[in-house]
Amino acid sequence: MPKVYGVAIRKGGQGKSTTVSTLARLCALYGARTLVVDLAQPGTTTGSLRDIWPDSTHGELSSAFLTLHEFPASVTPDAELARAALQAAALPVGLQSQPSWSGGALWTLPWDDLLGEAAAFLQSERVLAGLIHALAAEVDIALIDFPSDGGPLMTNALAATDSVIMPMAPEAPALEGAAATLRLLARVRESGRDIELGGLLLTRVEPKSKRLAEVVQAIRQAGEIEGESLENKLLPFAIRSHEYFEQAFRYGVPVWERTGAQRDWAGYVLMAEWLLRDAGLARLADARRGPALLDAETRIIDTSAVLLSEPEVMLRDFERAHPTT
Ligand SMILES: Nc1ncnc2c1ncn2[C@@H]1O[C@H](COP(=O)(O)OP(=O)(O)OP(=O)(O)O)[C@@H](O)[C@H]1O
Ligand SMILES: [Mg+2]
Repeated sequence: MPKVYGVAIRKGGQGKSTTVSTLARLCALYGARTLVVDLAQPGTTTGSLRDIWPDSTHGELSSAFLTLHEFPASVTPDAELARAALQAAALPVGLQSQPSWSGGALWTLPWDDLLGEAAAFLQSERVLAGLIHALAAEVDIALIDFPSDGGPLMTNALAATDSVIMPMAPEAPALEGAAATLRLLARVRESGRDIELGGLLLTRVEPKSKRLAEVVQAIRQAGEIEGESLENKLLPFAIRSHEYFEQAFRYGVPVWERTGAQRDWAGYVLMAEWLLRDAGLARLADARRGPALLDAETRIIDTSAVLLSEPEVMLRDFERAHPTT
């Protein structure tokens, strides 16, 4: 079964879609067969992958949902029926394979406008899980861009997710969103489902700004929320704020085609490697190449160092401070 990551936080605009589309491209580049599930209105993740969108027509996830709407609560549609529902909708969409993807692939269940309505017809909250599991033979890792509102789409997303990656900009309201997300995950666990917080990823970071230090301080002081601590899950690298990311949806091309500086996307390279290792795909994470190739001098934002005067360190020092094995 592919490990399924939900990119989620209960506060909008924190970089979920940017994170999903950039990580998906990187996972494919590392050779992972990657599935992107875009449940977030208005389909920003889907739009960000425009340059590799195929010419072929495809159906919609909402129609696959409707085919499976009679499965009763808590029942996972079996693989055969789920596959048939996907096939009838010409899903998943296979994005155009790139020469730089050595064996990797990118599949998507794209956003469509009827997704919310179709999800409301579902009796089982396990339909999306069934659809993803039906792709187990083709997919190594799955990333879900979470819907922002509660409701059946969110319930299906939660039931399909093994591990949550929470992107968070360094600002006080985001911290409240992070706490709310932990409470939500605790409710899901109470209902008997295993779901973990995989990591807290700081995004839109200006390394020199005072707010960064303040937010990291606040994360450290937050203590445990529902038995989980944000501090323990704070990832050691962070995503730099950059003009490209403000426009990613408009460009529809990867960040490394728009900016010359490796430091602008280095945080996502380290995040992709973290994901692959966490998903049991360490053999893929070990081979940096193409845009993922970083010079040893590339500057990395080290979240364990932000309270010091210099939050940025060179990659070689970062890797010495945070060994992966
Ligand atoms: N690293 C970054 N640097 C600068 N701006 C960023 C960065 N990441 C995201 N943004 C900006 O922040 C906004 C939110 O990003 P994104 O759309 O990825 O977040 P989201 O969590 O998916 O938002 P929504 O809740 O609206 O779906 C975007 O408009 C983008 O311009
Ligand atoms: Mg979004």
